[in-house]
Amino acid sequence: MSLWQKHAIFEKNSIVLVIGVLIVIAIGGLVEIAPLFYLKNTIEKVEGMRPYTPLELAGRNIYVREGCYNCHSQMIRPLRDEIERYGHYSLAAESMYDRPFQWGSKRTGPDLARVGGKYSDDWHRDHLVRPTAVVPGSIMPAYPWLVRTDLDFRHIADDLRVQARLGVPYSPEMIASAIDDTRVQASGDPGSAVDLAKRYPKAQSRDFDGNPERITEADALIAYLQVLGTMVDFRLYNNRANIR
Ligand code: HEC
Repeated sequence: MSLWQKHAIFEKNSIVLVIGVLIVIAIGGLVEIAPLFYLKNTIEKVEGMRPYTPLELAGRNIYVREGCYNCHSQMIRPLRDEIERYGHYSLAAESMYDRPFQWGSKRTGPDLARVGGKYSDDWHRDHLVRPTAVVPGSIMPAYPWLVRTDLDFRHIADDLRVQARLGVPYSPEMIASAIDDTRVQASGDPGSAVDLAKRYPKAQSRDFDGNPERITEADALIAYLQVLGTMVDFRLYNNRANIR
């Protein structure tokens, strides 16, 4: 019996074919996935990564609630065109505190992994209220309620607690001061922000939405957008293997 004739077993019997397909896919999956648990660059820690501040975490929750991930990825692939447009490709460690991750799978709008610091807070506020006000022809939907809605952060400590249970290193002290930290970061009072910066190095605290009277959902979302991609200092990593 030639090899081709043996193959007829698969072609004539659908159960055998399905089992054969599953075995082949399992081997392919193992070859692709298993090495990731051992490769250094997928498990290494990088300097500068810290958990989100309570305000940034609240902003991230709004990002998820509004479904921003339906149009925006947060994952710069190691391809030249992406790196030239968005900056250094995303490291695995940069999303180590993202639960759930926001890599996304669709880009109706640009990648946001390094959008922090690219625009001013005012730009973000105007863009969220009415995208075409700052980007003529933008097809992004408007989110005008964010600047009008007070941020509900009564339960933010519980949020931190859940994240801690999932492995994000929030200490009991961080959890206990979560409500104060939220208020302090959004008010931008430099005196009281000292403790915040101790807990969350380089946390930016200021009034993000241009309305110092209130802490709104826009304050939280803009604080989150402004920290994206800014934690790791890539000058430290420039001599690493890099496709550029
Ligand atoms: C229906 C798709 C869609 C949704 C949903 C969406 N966006 Fe966008 N976004 C876009 C498009 C398209 C652009 C490019 C045009 C522009 O800048 O307005 C964009 C641009 C942006 C930019 C500027 C990025 C840059 O580098 O110039 C930011 C920041 C942004 N969006 C944030 C958000 C946030 C936050 C949300 C959720 C509240 C959101 N987007 C929801 C489509 C979307």
